[in-house]
Amino acid sequence: SPVAARARSAVAAHRGERGALLPILHDLQAEFGYVDPAVVPVLAEELNLSRAEVHGVISFYHDFRESPAPGTVVRVCRAEACQANGAEALMAHAERNLGDGVTVQQVFCLGNCALGPAVEVNGKLAGRVDAARLDALVASADP
Ligand code: FES
Repeated sequence: SPVAARARSAVAAHRGERGALLPILHDLQAEFGYVDPAVVPVLAEELNLSRAEVHGVISFYHDFRESPAPGTVVRVCRAEACQANGAEALMAHAERNLGDGVTVQQVFCLGNCALGPAVEVNGKLAGRVDAARLDALVASADP
């Protein structure tokens, strides 16, 4: 499955690190907005842990969700090209001003680098987003 494949590539990226499970889970959470329970057996096998250990870590840390966040999900790209175009200010605006029912996540590259800062609102990609445009995108987001 694509989820399992992505989990394996996250493992590969952190291979050999001590305590690799946490950074791997952070990668998956940042990319998908939650940690799909389907990755538990994959990570257990790859990292030589029991499924209970992997599940225990996911449920212990409140950072990790096991299902997509409800409401509107805003993902702000914080990778280099977007940072150079104001992604940090946009992220700060999003965290400060987007209220109830909106989840703000960071992501590292949405493949829209020429049009930074790039943002995804409920899966819809937008480029050259400033604070006012972000507010408008959120206000008109499809559920
Ligand atoms: Fe932001 Fe690539 S750096 S979309």
